[in-house]
Amino acid sequence: MKIRGILFVSSLLLQSTMAGLWGSSSNNGKKKKVMDPITAEKNLPSAPTSKYDYKLSFKKNYYYNGSIPFWTAGGDIFQSEDFIRLSPSVPNTKGWIWSEIPNPYEEWEVDVAFRVTGNHMQGGRGLALWYTQDKEQPGPIYGSKDKWDGLSVWLDSNNPVTHKPSTVVILNDGTLEFASKNALDPRKYMLGACSISFRNTENPVYLKVSLRETTLTVSMDNGSGAKDYRICVQKSGIKLPTGYYFGVSALSINPADDHDIISFETRQLNPPKKLEHPKRPLEDEKKKRGEEFTGIDEEQRKKIEEAEFQMRKLRETAENSAAIYDTQQRAIEHIQLVQLQIEALGAPSPDDAITGNYQKIDLSKINDMGSSSSNSASYDKVRAENRYRSILFVFPRKQIA
Ligand SMILES: *[C@@H]1O[C@H](CO)[C@@H](O)[C@H](O)[C@H]1NC(C)=O
Ligand SMILES: *[C@@H]1O[C@H](CO)[C@@H](O)[C@H](O)[C@H]1NC(C)=O
Repeated sequence: MKIRGILFVSSLLLQSTMAGLWGSSSNNGKKKKVMDPITAEKNLPSAPTSKYDYKLSFKKNYYYNGSIPFWTAGGDIFQSEDFIRLSPSVPNTKGWIWSEIPNPYEEWEVDVAFRVTGNHMQGGRGLALWYTQDKEQPGPIYGSKDKWDGLSVWLDSNNPVTHKPSTVVILNDGTLEFASKNALDPRKYMLGACSISFRNTENPVYLKVSLRETTLTVSMDNGSGAKDYRICVQKSGIKLPTGYYFGVSALSINPADDHDIISFETRQLNPPKKLEHPKRPLEDEKKKRGEEFTGIDEEQRKKIEEAEFQMRKLRETAENSAAIYDTQQRAIEHIQLVQLQIEALGAPSPDDAITGNYQKIDLSKINDMGSSSSNSASYDKVRAENRYRSILFVFPRKQIA
């Protein structure tokens, strides 16, 4: 198969895959452009080099087919359209929500938007953010188990003396006990704490926790909707393994508060370069090989243009909705891989192809590369997945680079 054929085939593949994806993602089409505190994520002071992970996140609209994809909720939880109530203002209730997927990232950042509301002067206990080895284990520590292994950030609103809520950051190796008869004093073991009011606020409160290299930072915004974070605790020399689970739990005592989670968003910090510009990793190489590539015709160019447009739209959707299928993401990755194969062989990137920014060359220099099928004839066959794989196999990236 010659280059022309591969390029053509890939753009068709792209299109047919996209058509399928669009068919199933119609309920994600209603995107809110209005800035409200819940969707104001674009304003977060995240590092420019971060990548949103929709599987380790949830936000409105939460549900797909009655549940939150990739998350498990339990206890006295109440799932509404606008928030997830972990524990209601009913004494002695608790609830939780945990990611089903372990965090794969060395460096990460999570943003949790929540609300704690109650009628009494005194707060009705509180909630906790977890990054732990175990998940979904109820217990006395803000709804989750004691002797956890990993990180916990407590948001405690129950100070009967000062009525001031406190945020406490605490690590445990699975041995320390804080809720038993001979419980340890958390103040002796915590990394740090602060007092930022988060109860009965007008806007949702944002809690941001990040691990950058070995620096753990916990900050909060209690008024402006993720625009004005104040650092609560910052510590270096912190090691937390990958493969732990994110979760949030809450506990109401008597008098009780409502503990609502509005969103949970996870980003990978400093993702590898190739993920930032998935289409252009071999830019220089390609330019050199410009003389090895032949032109594409008008029809092919249109197809690439269209596929590229749909790809962009799909990515946008993927970044803005939790309710996207795993398969969609994998499909994109597959397509990007195919695109890389083609580009590595000297084809222009879709952008270059559209703008005509490539050199035309003598096709005869490039011989048949491992396949006997003729130019674009075997489109139907190529659509079959095994054929698709064989294209990837014939042009592994390592040999090209
Ligand atoms: C939706 O949920 C129901 C009940 O859990 C299940 O039987 C059905 O297969 C689900 N549908 C989809 C499209 O996932
Ligand atoms: C935010 O927290 C500070 C410190 O506790 C407090 O003085 C302030 O009133 C809080 N803001 C809101 C909107 O609750």
